[in-house]
Amino acid sequence: PRSIWLSRHGESEFNLSGRIGGDANLSYRGRAYSEKLPELVKQSVGDIDLTVWTSTMKRTIQTAQYLPYRKLQWKALDELDAGVCDGLTYEEIEEAYPEDFRARDDDKYNYRYRGGESYRDVVIRLEPIIMEIERSENIMVVTHQAVIRCLYAYFMNVPQNRSPWMEIPLHTVIKLTPRAYSTQEERFKADI
Ligand code: F6P
Repeated sequence: PRSIWLSRHGESEFNLSGRIGGDANLSYRGRAYSEKLPELVKQSVGDIDLTVWTSTMKRTIQTAQYLPYRKLQWKALDELDAGVCDGLTYEEIEEAYPEDFRARDDDKYNYRYRGGESYRDVVIRLEPIIMEIERSENIMVVTHQAVIRCLYAYFMNVPQNRSPWMEIPLHTVIKLTPRAYSTQEERFKADI
């Protein structure tokens, strides 16, 4: 059976300062992950040639930069658009938009940032990506927390409305192998 490899980008400068969205560069640790990624991937892939899909954001492109495979950038893999909250910390959001902050807490799947997106929106924009993954082989997707959560839920057969709560840590490659009745999962954590 075919496998799919998933990874979040390495830690970014915005992850370090607790800011959401943006288009920051990788941090020092994030760069260390990008340097270790080829070896980590090789452990689980062997000599097969992958195709690596990234978003159009610097942090995913930088994370994939040393992988010795063909790369493709997809706008549809960009992080959930936080609209007016882009670039803020959660504390700043709570302060500036207290009602929105509560509304998101109440219904994280359906809550749409002002001028931005909800998880539900992301699930919809990922439909063509998922179709493309399903008819391709040996794809590795390097993307963002919210996007990975939606892809992961899909391939793990978890209801889409539970996507916002999937645990997807940094600096970890997830290998998913769909089988007849369930999907087999393996995680490879980089030691950084
Ligand atoms: O903090 C990193 C990040 O990818 C943000 O860019 C994004 O808004 C957030 O995670 C998504 O996680 P949550 O839906 O839990 O806020």
